[in-house]
Amino acid sequence: MREQLLAAERITAIAWRDGALYLLDQRLLPLEQLWVRCESSGAVAAAISQMLVRGAPAIGVAAAYGLVLSARARLQAGGDWQAGLQADYQQLAAARPTAANLLWALNRMLDRLQRRNPDEDVVALLEAEAIAIHLSDREANLTMAQSGLELIRKHQDSAQSFLTHCNAGALATGGFGTALGVIRAAHLQGLVERVYAGETRPWLQGSRLTAWELAEDGVPTTLIADSTAAHLMRGHGISWVIVGADRITANGDVINKIGTYQLAINAMHHGVRFMVVAPSSTIDMTCEVGEDVVLEERDATELLDFAGQRVGARVEVFNPVFDVTPADLVDAIVTETGVIERPDGEKMAQLMSRRHLH
Ligand code: MRU
Repeated sequence: MREQLLAAERITAIAWRDGALYLLDQRLLPLEQLWVRCESSGAVAAAISQMLVRGAPAIGVAAAYGLVLSARARLQAGGDWQAGLQADYQQLAAARPTAANLLWALNRMLDRLQRRNPDEDVVALLEAEAIAIHLSDREANLTMAQSGLELIRKHQDSAQSFLTHCNAGALATGGFGTALGVIRAAHLQGLVERVYAGETRPWLQGSRLTAWELAEDGVPTTLIADSTAAHLMRGHGISWVIVGADRITANGDVINKIGTYQLAINAMHHGVRFMVVAPSSTIDMTCEVGEDVVLEERDATELLDFAGQRVGARVEVFNPVFDVTPADLVDAIVTETGVIERPDGEKMAQLMSRRHLH
């Protein structure tokens, strides 16, 4: 299966080449494929907050490379390079507030720096660590795809339909995706009749990114308005809702793209299973419950404007871009270190203790 999955990899959105970070600008997809070269940590932080790069694991990977660029520039500038690196770390960490992977990756980079031998080259060791973070995310995707597939097989042996939300694919990770990785594996095994992609208002990750990725892979895909989901789940043969996550808290609550919570409620009401696929770098045991997590709110123009044109009436706007799905609405959390069904605090703690053994 691993070889089959690797052979099916097509889209990449992050590349580290010639000492610079290249990002496929996700604001323009699928109409235009433009690679942007980032040569400074400031440029990477801006790319994260402006969403040239997006998706929890992908912004972690990008930030790690950002810190390599920071170290190189700060060492070249001379003086107190470590204070400069700290400032760049803060700027990268503040680029977006919700995804756990951002801080996880930055802290892993700092940790590596602190454990260095005096004779090690700082830039080279940080570069190696960023590449390791990137590659391990790709590996995690492969493992999760296979575990998610096994879970699907436990409940079905013929092709059925799936619903996904936002984009948890190659564009959002260092590999070929979390939720979409599982869907890709199921497709390769003939278990996918159709994938319904919610358009994911207001940024349209579903219609612009997920639908594009799935179509590139030849997966039968149907785009729906987000508000179609309940109607779809009532009698259209949806077996699973499969989504990614931006942060999972110690009790198993799932923070993901706005609209995920209403999908989970709908899924429970209609007897549709709900699977969350995320690497362990998305799990934050320091947050006890979902309510502890800062949910990013973005600009009102995302709702008021359409294609750069004002279409909404002049009223107040509430635009949180993530929500909290309580653990008791989740059937399974699939990570690279294991799968837990019907998550709770105890199962989460057990799962994370296994992570330390890896
Ligand atoms: O605002 P975005 O596009 O960064 O939000 C992304 C999501 O919510 C994804 O579902 C999540 O990060 C998982 S990506 C593997």
